[in-house]
This record gives sequence, structure tokens and C-alpha cells, in this order.
Amino acid sequence: MCGIIGINSSKPVSATIINSLKKLEYRGYDSAGIATLYDGSINEIKSEGRVDNLEKSSLVKNMEGTVGIGHVRWATHGLPNSINAHPHSSQNVSVVHNGIIENSTLLKKFLVGKGHKFKSQTDTEVIVHLITENLKTENIVDSIKKTLKSLHGSFALGIIFKDEPDLIVGARRGSPLAVGYGPNENYLGSDSYALKSMTNKITYLNDGEFCIIKKDHVEFFSEDGTKINKKVLELSSEEEKYDKGDFKHFMAKEIEEQPITLKNGIKEYIDTSNNDINIHNFPWKINEISSVTLIGCGTAYHSCLMAKYWFEELTSLDVNIDIASEFRYRKNRFKKDTLYVFVSQSGETADTYAALDLCIKNNMKTCAVVNVIESSIARDSEFVLPIHCGTEIGVASTKAFLGQILILYILALKLGSLKKDIEKKTFIEKINDLKELPKLIEKTLSLDNKIQAVSSTFNEAKGSMFLGRGFSFPIALEGALKLKELSYIHAEGYPAGEMKHGPLALIEEGMPVVVLAPRDDYYKKTISNMQEVIARGAKVLLITNKSKDEIVSENIWETIEVETTNEDLFPFLLTIPLQKLAYYSALKKGFDIDKPRNLAKSVTVE
Ligand code: AGP
Repeated sequence: MCGIIGINSSKPVSATIINSLKKLEYRGYDSAGIATLYDGSINEIKSEGRVDNLEKSSLVKNMEGTVGIGHVRWATHGLPNSINAHPHSSQNVSVVHNGIIENSTLLKKFLVGKGHKFKSQTDTEVIVHLITENLKTENIVDSIKKTLKSLHGSFALGIIFKDEPDLIVGARRGSPLAVGYGPNENYLGSDSYALKSMTNKITYLNDGEFCIIKKDHVEFFSEDGTKINKKVLELSSEEEKYDKGDFKHFMAKEIEEQPITLKNGIKEYIDTSNNDINIHNFPWKINEISSVTLIGCGTAYHSCLMAKYWFEELTSLDVNIDIASEFRYRKNRFKKDTLYVFVSQSGETADTYAALDLCIKNNMKTCAVVNVIESSIARDSEFVLPIHCGTEIGVASTKAFLGQILILYILALKLGSLKKDIEKKTFIEKINDLKELPKLIEKTLSLDNKIQAVSSTFNEAKGSMFLGRGFSFPIALEGALKLKELSYIHAEGYPAGEMKHGPLALIEEGMPVVVLAPRDDYYKKTISNMQEVIARGAKVLLITNKSKDEIVSENIWETIEVETTNEDLFPFLLTIPLQKLAYYSALKKGFDIDKPRNLAKSVTVE
């Protein structure tokens, strides 16, 4: 999950590369670097940490050169420091890389044997020396071809050459890479997002392809070096305003945006005048689908788990879910009448893309639920259900999670209705309840003070549990993940009914435990599980819904009541306090909320 940029221009490129790298920091921010060709040599500058550190270097300010490459890194091999930062360069070649070279140890041994000196601990550096070695006997295209053939694993590459000062080479296998076209300059980027501020004319490379980018034209090649023609796509050019506005962090802004983003999603799919759901151009007849498999990673996997409960509730379809990194290596029994749904905010997650690729290779029905509609997963799926929640910058997913589960709920409702598993009257009631949801989210967002007050207790604890049953269980997992990734505290989401089978041993005096217990079918059972943990000294934060019924339990540390709605929709409301809990906990700890340590917004390596 690194970010790559390359620019071949008629004017100096360093400032534009640096600005583009700032937009790419959502992909990784351990370290950054830039290399340009100037005065017959490769000029390389790198720094640990953010792009700002690189920009501050006086060397960058005076960096010359009209051909250059840049990189922001999320470490896979080697510590996040300036030596391991990209670009990696020999005297003749400089490379930026996103992906993992799985045979780098073997290649390094071979190259050291040829006298090459290595400076870093990275896998990427073998690419530099391999190209340098091959250039001794081959021309550019053949040396690239030969090098790519020797590499095992995944890569998106940007390469410049001391002796070829008018070109940049790009190559792709397993990690996305795009070419952009500008006025008397051309670009290379990890994805269209990286290029959006410079152009909306884009060509995506497919696996195995490579390209030679000059400032006035671009040549594309297939794996065997044959020249090929590629389509130029014109993407929507509206440059989304994605600054923080009055908020301290993107995450805070994105939490507060949720009523709007849900409204957008509902508007896109709910046909108010006909009390129906529009899923335009759905490519399959409902009798061609008898089961659904939902696949994702992290928060997107929690969306899949949430959807499983809704699909079971609203349709007679068999429903399976899987974590993409598991699915891609499982001995899958592919069935023609299964619809495979890939959930991904970025649409670039390597494991999710690999799972999609496996299904495509087995001629399965594939549907993407994504936020970035120009992404690889969206482009390569047969059908796309965009979540329409706008750019999400915060690495910890908030509005995209609610957007994902909204679209999955709508899909379950629609398929249930098409299969006649839901009566028309019930279907209309559920649609009407859904239309009220943004207003209820708005009210729930105001539950700020109580959340702020309890967040320090979570900070002081050595760990916490998040418990829920049924529809609330996926939200318990999501709430725990938010707290983990933002405040670096151990937190575990668990089915409330499972606590007595072991984890109850973890409960000790004063341990904070979140219990999600809206007054749905699981309420009474969850309250008894809550009493089991209170009896052992836990400080329970109960999140339930407003009701005239008294809560039949004592010694609850704090209670938060969300608005009341139809049971299907409680998960949306329960999520809000948990997002805020994680946010305030990290805020009090002074951690980097939009870019938590060790993470990146789009995990494009496996
Ligand atoms: C979300 O809070 C996490 N940062 C992470 O789990 C994320 O959901 C996961 O990496 C999947 O990303 P995607 O939705 O872009 O595929």
C-alpha cells in the first residue's frame, strides 16, 4: 500500500511530485522520496516520516529536472527509515515500487554475486540492480521484459534511467497503476486519485503490461514486449473538495457527514414515488441466484457479516461470508448460481482484488460494493453498487462503513422483494423507515458529551470488550476495531452469548465493557450476559435505545440511549457512539487520528 507518482514534462517536476505525494499519503506514510534526472545523473532525496519532512529539505526546494518519480511508503520489508525509503537507485537506474517481491532473497544473492552493492533492507532494491544488470546486454524494452520475468510477487513500478533522460517506464502486476495525460507532459500514478489534480484522462495498465512515458506520447507493451493500444478514459473531473473544513481531523468530519452520505445513498437507490428500490442494469435474473457470498477485509468484512444477518432476515438465499485473505486460498466450491459480492471502500485492497480475480477466472457472478468507482475492483467486477459517500481520507473507516452496510441492506431488501420473500406492505414499511434514518443519525451524533466522558476510562484500561448478539454482534466487532486502530488499546468484539465459554476469565474489577443491547429480539438475553460481566466487576457502558421500559439491571456504569427505529436499522445507530468513543480516546492520547501508526487507507499488498 505505497503511493507512486511519475511526471515527464517540459518544466521542472519536483514541486508537483511533492504535492501529488501529499495526496497519496493515505496509502502509506512511513517515509517518502523523490528522484529526478538532471545534468546527466539521477538526483535522489528521501526522508523518514511524512512528505512534509521531505519538502522541508532544502535539497528538494532546489531540485532540478523535468523527469522524475516519487513515492510514499508503507513498510513491508525493512524498517521505515530514509535508507529503506523509495526511490532506490543505482548509478544508472532509479525505481519506486508498490507490492512485494517474493523471490527477492534469491535475486539479491545472485546480484551480490555479480558485484552489486546493496544499501537497504528492502525487496525493491533487487529490481534496481536487476535492471542495471540486464541493461549491460539488453535495450530498455528487453531489459524491462527480462527483469519483470524474473520477479515473483506483485508490483507497480515507476523507473527512470540516467542514460534515457526523456522517458519513464511503468509496469504492473497485481498492484494498480495508471497513466495520465496532460498538456505537454504525461504522468504515472498508483491510481486515478493520485492523478486527479493534474488530469482526468487516464489509462489503466493491466497485469503484465508495461509502458514507456514520454512528455508528448506514451507507448504500451504486453508482457512479451509487443506494442499494444490502450483506451484513454475520461473520468469525472469534478475536483472534490476534501479539506477538513472546520474540523480538527478528517475522521471527525467524516463521522459528522454520515447523515448526508446516507441521504445520498438512499436517494441513489430508493424510488420514493414508486416505493421501490432501483438497482439499474442489474445483470442477472433473480432465479439465476440462489446464494450470495460476501467478501471483504477489516471493516469491509464487518459489513459483510452485518449483511449476512440482513440477508437471512429478508431473503431465502443461502448466505456465506469470508475474509478475503482466507477466501483467496480456500478450496472453494464455485457454483454458477452464487452471486459473489466484494465489499471495499478503496476498491484496491489486494486480498479483496485477488478474491475477485479468482471468481472472475471461475466465471462467477461478481458484484462490487465500493466507494471509489474508478478502482480496480469496480472496474473488473461485472456489476458495481457505488456507496456514494464521497472521498474518505481518515484511515479508520467511518462513513464508508455506514455507506457499505446501507447498500448491502438495500440489496438484501431488493433481492428479498424480487424473490417474493418480503410482503409488499413490509417492504414499503422498511423503505419508509430507511428514509427516516439520516434524521436519526443526526440526533445520535449529538450524544457527544457522555462519550467524551467515558473515553478516558478506556484509555486507562489495559483492554476492553465489546459485546453484542444478532444484528449487534458485527457492530461490536467494528467498535472494537475502531478503538484498536485509533488508540492502540487492545479491544475485543465478541458474541455476548459466547463470553461464558472462556473470555469471561478476562473480566476483572474496573474493566470497561461495551454492551450493545437495543430492544430487539436479542435484548433480554444480552442483558443477562451483561449482568454476568457486571457480577465480575466490569464497568459496563450499555448502549441501548430510548424506551419507556425500565432497564432491569443495577450497577451499570453508564448508559447511552440511541433513537428508536425498526430493529433492522439499530446497527446504524449503535455504530455512531462507538466511532466517537474511538475518536475521543485517540484525541485524549494525542495520537494521529487520520493516519494511525502502522496503517494505511488502502492495503494494496497481501
Ligand atoms: C477500516 O477502519 C480499516 N482501516 C481497514 O480495516 C479497512 O476496512 C480494510 O483495510 C479494507 O479496506 P477497503 O474497504 O478499502 O477494502
